[in-house]
Amino acid sequence: MTIAEDQTRDARARLDRLWSRGRDFLGTEFAIMGGAMTWVSERNLVAAISNGGGFGVLASGSMSPDQLDAEIAGTRERTSKPFGVNLITMHPRLDDLIGVCAGRRVSHVVLAGGLPPSAVIGRVRETGAKVVCFAPTAATARKLVKNGADAIMIEGMEAGGHIGPVSTSVLAQEILPVVSEVPVFVAGGIGRGEAILSYLEMGASGVQLGTRFVCATESIAHARYKQAFINAAARDAIPSVQIDPRFPVIPVRALTNEGTRRFMDFQRTVIDRFTRGEVGQKEAQLEIEHYWAGALRRAVIEGDIENGSLMAGQSVGMVTREQPTAEILNDLVDQAVHALALRSGLIGKAYGGEPAYGSKIVSGVVE
Ligand SMILES: Cc1cc2nc3c(=O)[nH]c(=O)nc-3n(C[C@H](O)[C@H](O)[C@H](O)COP(=O)(O)O)c2cc1C
Repeated sequence: MTIAEDQTRDARARLDRLWSRGRDFLGTEFAIMGGAMTWVSERNLVAAISNGGGFGVLASGSMSPDQLDAEIAGTRERTSKPFGVNLITMHPRLDDLIGVCAGRRVSHVVLAGGLPPSAVIGRVRETGAKVVCFAPTAATARKLVKNGADAIMIEGMEAGGHIGPVSTSVLAQEILPVVSEVPVFVAGGIGRGEAILSYLEMGASGVQLGTRFVCATESIAHARYKQAFINAAARDAIPSVQIDPRFPVIPVRALTNEGTRRFMDFQRTVIDRFTRGEVGQKEAQLEIEHYWAGALRRAVIEGDIENGSLMAGQSVGMVTREQPTAEILNDLVDQAVHALALRSGLIGKAYGGEPAYGSKIVSGVVE
């Protein structure tokens, strides 16, 4: 065995130790979750992620209970590996969706879209499923753990879709050191294995990626949606803009297009009508909220990339081609392993050989 092979094998063993808690929790080879993406994360992509060694999560945001039931069955036909279901807590038929998960003996449920009440966490746990909850602050994370969450997800504002105001790196520093009772997964802006490794070294048990999987070969996203991702740079994925504090807009990160530009004019027109007394505040707010109704489906399924919502995270700049899901996962793992192996090499060099990458040695430490 060459030194390089030896280092790679050691590095892989170290990576497996670093994310062992996440792997045990998910029952997977890699502690990499494929974040649920409405319309995108259906049976094909979810099964491909799980078959590739990761953990796929079905997005049920747009589904009726019957549709979710069929989707779980369809996913099981394609994989015997574990996968989860994402439930949106404000879904009007949440109870029925939980019932479907119970009937299908779903092993993991990710509760998204607002803080889940403890009764909802309890009801999901009664089905036998492990519950993953999103936490926007350390205090909330602790409260969710007290209320029964089996794992915590922290997601920074680099992510695609609905976002909070804080970056992944800051959330990781605030939450990872203080939540140790349950595994914590980190999401938002992760596009390469080096970043996965960093979060694991900071104490994460695993990670979740969404944007990186949209252009997987197995993803049913429309070819035009995929091409928009391939063409885009990080700076093209920006949060929706609210122009008047009286009319709040939930921030959604998406690629800019004709739809996002028109949204500004639309808000202005509605607010002008409100100012002239032609429409009430509640009605105006509803009109603004309805602007994006059905827009994600139009982009993902119909390929309307001009008027639809092109939800995408900042890691979209690292999406450069369509790739099989297994290859995406293996690339991420290889990058993490390579970074670990390289570090071992650097330590050796600092105490004897030439420092790598133009780094300098100060008192025997590579800077
Ligand atoms: C197109 C799209 C749709 C999404 N839909 C959902 C959703 O339905 N439920 C959810 O919890 N998160 C949703 N997300 C967030 C992802 O699950 C994941 O947490 C996020 O994409 C991770 O950040 P990244 O995009 O930087 O990888 C969506 C993201 C994208 C890009």
